[in-house]
Amino acid sequence: MNKKLTITSIKKAKGVKPLVMITAYDALFAKLLQESADMILVGDSLNMSFGGKNDTLSITLDQMIYHTNAVCNGAPNSFVVCDMPFGTYTNKEDALRNAVRVFQETPADCVKIEGGEDKAEIVQHLTSNGIAVCGHIGLLPQAYRSEGGYKVKGKNEAETVQLIKDARSIESAGAFCMVVEGVKADIAAEITKSVEIPVIGIGAGADVDGQVLVFSDMLGFYEAFTPKFVKKYLDGAKLVKEAAQSYADEVVGKEFPKEEHTY
Ligand code: KIV
Repeated sequence: MNKKLTITSIKKAKGVKPLVMITAYDALFAKLLQESADMILVGDSLNMSFGGKNDTLSITLDQMIYHTNAVCNGAPNSFVVCDMPFGTYTNKEDALRNAVRVFQETPADCVKIEGGEDKAEIVQHLTSNGIAVCGHIGLLPQAYRSEGGYKVKGKNEAETVQLIKDARSIESAGAFCMVVEGVKADIAAEITKSVEIPVIGIGAGADVDGQVLVFSDMLGFYEAFTPKFVKKYLDGAKLVKEAAQSYADEVVGKEFPKEEHTY
């Protein structure tokens, strides 16, 4: 079994060893993924791939807490990151009250918050009150409705300047690492050089300190759409459908159960 990472060992990995983050939403997959992942993210993407919704916005804190506990039960020796849902950290007081719930009601190691310079004060309030924070800048899935879709960032000078400011602000506010999503690779590389904490990329190219993928994308279970940055390491949907059809065929053909499956 892998040794559980700590905030200190994660920070020390920058420039030494690329960090591997994978999402999980339940105990079963957390158990399967724990050996390969340095960090398991209970992402609010679960609202889409698990909950079947079109975006992440409607997940509740209670639901995140339920799934975080499930993941921690399956992978008790993993460093677990819990996404703070949309609307739960709009001001310092709400953010702290809700993050304290995550820490008191689950064994998660940190929370993740979307936003840069605009959220620095909130990150600072959390970190100074004992809540470890992983930042998340660039393409922000929780801005899906307000921005009218998923917008890749770093496409012009103004966006690039803002991204660097975002990264530095949340680092100064005490975040111990950050996810950089949907950012042009050269700009993500610049962000990575501009901060001392690890930058975990998703759709941000190779020159970052680690990578994160949503497990259901990576394992090919999510069929609705495949973003450009996803590599499928398994054709999970095909395998599951084939297995389910074999079972159905054997039930209909009276081939299952056999003697060895019978009491
Ligand atoms: O919710 C999630 O899975 C995430 C990843 C896309 C980084 O935030």
